[in-house]
Amino acid sequence: MRIRDPRIVAKLAEINIELKHGTALAGLTSLGIGGTTDLLRIKRHESLPDLLTLLEANQVPHKFLGGGSNLLVGDGELPWVVLQLVRPEPDVVLEGNLAHVDAAADLGRMITFCAKNDLGGMEGLIGVPGTVGGALRMNAGAYGMQIGSYVREVRLYRVASRKIEVLHGDQISFEYRHTSFAPDDMMLAVILELPSKPYKDILQGIRICNEKRRSSQPLGQKSAGCIFKNPPGVSAGRMIDELGLKGLSVGDARVSDRHANFFVNAGHASARDMLMLIADVRERVQKSFGVNLENEVVVWNA
Ligand code: EPU
Repeated sequence: MRIRDPRIVAKLAEINIELKHGTALAGLTSLGIGGTTDLLRIKRHESLPDLLTLLEANQVPHKFLGGGSNLLVGDGELPWVVLQLVRPEPDVVLEGNLAHVDAAADLGRMITFCAKNDLGGMEGLIGVPGTVGGALRMNAGAYGMQIGSYVREVRLYRVASRKIEVLHGDQISFEYRHTSFAPDDMMLAVILELPSKPYKDILQGIRICNEKRRSSQPLGQKSAGCIFKNPPGVSAGRMIDELGLKGLSVGDARVSDRHANFFVNAGHASARDMLMLIADVRERVQKSFGVNLENEVVVWNA
């Protein structure tokens, strides 16, 4: 979708929003899949209420993008514009055991920065790609830990109230790959409370998790991490593997040979290819195991 109305373009400049016409979202997602639309880059959180009012008044549909690492975006010209926060510098400020983190901060870099300052707890998340905001929104977890456990406070823009609000950790419920945030809440910043731990001990934990990940996940390939959630008590990857589906492809969309719940873009896969592969695998698992796999990947299909 293109914003061409000169009044809207002028107003965007006035409220300090950067407009990037015709951005290919394939370049902003870890799957390397996604069509084209206008990208609105937000330099100051305080611009959000004005921006949302402007978009709503002019009926411009929009979506809010984090790091694009758990996302499958549709093909072609997309019928909505995309909003994204510009990462500020610095994006992490420490105060005792509290880390004040901007939602646009890179998750891995934030964990490493905290580790170097003897703050640990999140070692398991070290190889998870994406922003802190994205990890927070869906309560990213790995190797027995989840980001939600460390949340003291979240600052977000709430479309329902049209306001920037602050929620305390105990006002939010964090479940397996799910949170009580509204679907259109936009994560802006978080305060994490992290346990003190010597850097060398944190580093050891990080190395172990990195090694586990390297040996079981296709890290060098374009993917969105796990495609399906694990149903209670079972592994989606193991079921798909047991059906012999590693290597199954639709166009360049392929079930990874390394981990069957990772679907990779082995070349120039389209969203259509990936969606067909997801539907096919879901159907086969349903038929053989009677289990309906739920997407873990977020799908923005036009
Ligand atoms: N397995 C297979 N074949 C496969 C994949 C897995 O037999 O192709 C078996 C493994 O050998 C293991 C079991 O299934 O015995 C579980 O596998 P793994 O430890 O890789 O964990 P997972 O349940 O597949 C979950 C998360 C990952 C997270 C890892 C490590 C989900 C959907 N997946 O995977 O998260 O990194 O545990 O904690 O919750 C993600 O969220 O995108 C993600 C990749």
